[in-house]
Amino acid sequence: MSSHRDDVVVVDAVRTAFGRAGEKGIFWNTRAEDLCIPLVRALLERNPPLAPQMIEDSIWGVTNQVKEQGGTLGRMVPILAEMGWDIPGCSIDRMCASGLTAIGFAAGYIAGGMADCLLAGGVEHMGHLPMGFMRDPHPRAEALLGGPSAFNMGMTAENIHDRYPEFTKEMADRYALGTQQKAGRAIAEGRMKDMIVPIEVELADGTKMTADTDQHPRPETTLEGLASLKTPFREEGGRVTAGNASGLNDGAACALMMSRRKAEELGLAPKMRWVATGIAGVDPTVMGIAPVPATEKALARAGLSIKDMDIIEINEAFAVQALYFLDRMGLSYDDSRVNRWGGAIAYGHPLAASGPRLAAFMAAQFTENPDARYGLTTMCVGRGQGYSVIWENMVAG
Ligand SMILES: CC(C)(COP(=O)(O)OP(=O)(O)OC[C@H]1O[C@@H](n2cnc3c(N)ncnc32)[C@H](O)[C@@H]1OP(=O)(O)O)[C@@H](O)C(=O)NCCC(=O)NCCS
Repeated sequence: MSSHRDDVVVVDAVRTAFGRAGEKGIFWNTRAEDLCIPLVRALLERNPPLAPQMIEDSIWGVTNQVKEQGGTLGRMVPILAEMGWDIPGCSIDRMCASGLTAIGFAAGYIAGGMADCLLAGGVEHMGHLPMGFMRDPHPRAEALLGGPSAFNMGMTAENIHDRYPEFTKEMADRYALGTQQKAGRAIAEGRMKDMIVPIEVELADGTKMTADTDQHPRPETTLEGLASLKTPFREEGGRVTAGNASGLNDGAACALMMSRRKAEELGLAPKMRWVATGIAGVDPTVMGIAPVPATEKALARAGLSIKDMDIIEINEAFAVQALYFLDRMGLSYDDSRVNRWGGAIAYGHPLAASGPRLAAFMAAQFTENPDARYGLTTMCVGRGQGYSVIWENMVAG
């Protein structure tokens, strides 16, 4: 094990296809752990001479750590993958940024000389474990979080529309249409193929299939269709709909992280280098605004500006939250650096899986754009947090 600070690199990042939560979802009969196991195996297969015994910890973000997602899933994944007892593991919860936090902790371990080779992933089966399932908030929590809306993410998005009325429903729908179109193009062009690990599944009706394609995107989306949708979080005068919000989804994603020295020793070509992290806390009733202070912190730590970012991946929990971020960071709503393959409104948002999904998108885009130097992944988080990570392209010559 190294005893000095070393560069932290992502060697590879993969994910499952993202399914819709519920009986019609492709993963209805698949357990959360069985979404993770194929990813770990794929990372080993794709990166010889990496061997299981080289992995020093298996760190998994999981928001709802009960039932199949409880019992220290991070430890169970390598055991269930039949990699033996030697690989320790843990589970981390920072709600939507649980998986990005797993990546952040892995970066800290490696930078601090505590490890050289780690798995950092995230998984959420929202069909089996719905948001808030079995949660028992402290009786004082609601008042201290700012009111009941802090517990309902859709309501927090309505609150952003209230507080910043310059972001209208029409703008949110237009943004959502754009992300669906970008995702539709990216999928048609085959951009998801290399990062998605196919999984054999059995559907609710007993049909067997290979889950290798995201189930949530709706490339046929129109502005008229979006305008006609109900506003489930506020019946009268609401602006947040199923069309301009991320969905309820099942999925997993995982990154293989190493010290640069270890990757070189193994002859592996890293895709990107971790540069800086920024984490922020804000008013929980408008949690979606938090990527702005989180990004400002990350940029300050990196000594960079938003103008230096060639690729920006924002997790679109809600369109209004993405609009707020773009506006406050001085970016135009159609900036070509932002979510160029579409975002969570199209692909879905299986909470803890979304951070490593963003990392997989970043790594793939760096590979396709060797001229791009820096990238930003950023997410808002329930209870009022933001988590941003800045990356440097290592594919560039
Ligand atoms: C918004 C939400 C409540 C919608 O859930 P849902 O009702 O199960 O969503 P559905 O996919 O069934 O869509 C509802 C309807 O909108 C329609 N719809 C969805 N997207 C559409 C689109 N892009 N264009 C046209 N219609 C669309 C569906 O076809 C469906 O129509 P139907 O009722 O006629 O069947 C749910 O997705 C949600 O809670 N999202 C936020 C998740 C969240 O908070 N995550 C954490 C973030 S921090």
